[in-house]
Amino acid sequence: MTDLDPAKLPRHLAIIMDGNGRWAQQQGFARTKGHERGADTIRSVTTECARLHLEQLTLYAFSHENWKRPRTEIAFLMRLLRKFLVRERPTMMDNDVRLTAIGRLDDLPDDARAELDRSIEMTSGNGGLNLCLALSYGGRAEIVDACKRLAREVAAGTLDPEALDEDAVSARLYQPGRDPDLLVRTAGERRISNFLLWQISYAEIYVTEACWPEFSVEELHAALRDYAGRTRKYGGLVDPRPEAVR
Ligand code: FPP
Repeated sequence: MTDLDPAKLPRHLAIIMDGNGRWAQQQGFARTKGHERGADTIRSVTTECARLHLEQLTLYAFSHENWKRPRTEIAFLMRLLRKFLVRERPTMMDNDVRLTAIGRLDDLPDDARAELDRSIEMTSGNGGLNLCLALSYGGRAEIVDACKRLAREVAAGTLDPEALDEDAVSARLYQPGRDPDLLVRTAGERRISNFLLWQISYAEIYVTEACWPEFSVEELHAALRDYAGRTRKYGGLVDPRPEAVR
């Protein structure tokens, strides 16, 4: 098994899956091969997170900004998403994984959206890991969408602007729930890239040089072990007793 202490695992892990193209180019393959291998990594990482009883795994699968990529690459990624959703249903069911999604999902091509809805519906009764795919997702867009909902409620007279607080904003995000405890980014860049801007306020951040297609279960364990050694203070003190303050 593993040397990981279950009490020190993150409950919600979020990952910026980066480096598919770089990995493929390093191997002398087309970029698309990197995306295909990246989809395989999603399966192994999801299965391991389910086995470790994490509550949620949120993956940055397609950003709002990714629509700026060449049409052929976007078409490939959307086909891959559709195939992935169909192919992974048995694995999700076997591992009690519940699929959900965040982002401007109406932007997705109809066939990909239909398979997404089917997988969400089929896995909705599963009680294990929540695998949340961020698709056509942007952190700023999510905050803007939450603001629109708030503004509509204020205009309708169902929300008092003076009652607006952080919980009120959180409750209007795409998927209200536990914020990520740990944010992992692969392929070495030290950027947030518009991912979960509101939710990662107090997340621990772990960056690995490994590209996503080569992010193994051992790499995942290394990130989890690193997280287990962190002290989370949320801006406060580890020991809040007055006598501990010097
Ligand atoms: C970054 O690689 C990765 C993405 C575009 C998002 C993640 C996509 C996958 C893992 C493909 C499969 C996903 C699903 C849901 C089927 P990059 O192309 O930006 O890499 P680079 O920075 O090295 O060019």
